[in-house]
Parts: sequence; C-alpha cells; structure tokens
Amino acid sequence: MKLLFFTLFLLSLIFSSSFTTLAAAKPPPTGPAPTPTPIPASCGALCKARCAKAGIQKRCLNFCGICCSKCNCVPSGTYGNKSECPCYRDMLNSKGKPKCP
Ligand SMILES: *[C@@H]1O[C@H](CO)[C@@H](O)[C@H](O)[C@H]1NC(C)=O
Repeated sequence: MKLLFFTLFLLSLIFSSSFTTLAAAKPPPTGPAPTPTPIPASCGALCKARCAKAGIQKRCLNFCGICCSKCNCVPSGTYGNKSECPCYRDMLNSKGKPKCP
C-alpha cells in the first residue's frame, strides 16, 4: 500500500515539474496582434492620423508604418510637414519617389 502512494507521489512530482517546464518554455506575452515586422505601438496612432484622409488607407498605413518604424517619427497633419521628420521625408522607394505618405 505504501509503495502505491509513493509511486503516485513520484508521478505527481514528475507531472508537476513537466508542467512547470512547459509553462516556463512559453514565450512571454507580447502586445496585441504581433506582426512579422514589429511596428512601435505609437506608430499605429500616428499613422492613423497621418492617413486619415488617404485614398487607399491600407496602403498609406502600410508605408507609414514602415517609415515610422525606421524613423521613429511621423510628420503631423495628413500631408506635408515632412520637415518635422527628415528621415521620413528622405526615404525613397525603388522608383526614387518619396516612400512615406
Ligand atoms: C501640418 O500639420 C498641421 C497640424 O499640426 C495640419 O493642420 C496641416 O494640415 C499639416 N500640413 C500642412 C501642409 O500644413
């Protein structure tokens, strides 16, 4: 009888330790909606404002997000004001045109 309890005790030890290792192996919780190219959270709000009047919102937000994550700033307003963020102003696409909205 004693042996049975001892075995159960051992088993529970093994299980609990394997569970804790499983829990420990889990990656730490990240922010909402993890994306392949992480974009700083502030960029989301900045780009939403920047692209508020854009014809193709999705495209605008996409490029704005790229520029913002590289430059860490987005000019204010829905257009212009690019001197506020020279890095953003100076980014060019493959055709040599301004990349950022
Ligand atoms: C520049 O930013 C202001 C707000 O900070 C905005 O009202 C304006 O439309 C933006 N663009 C230009 C070209 O002034």
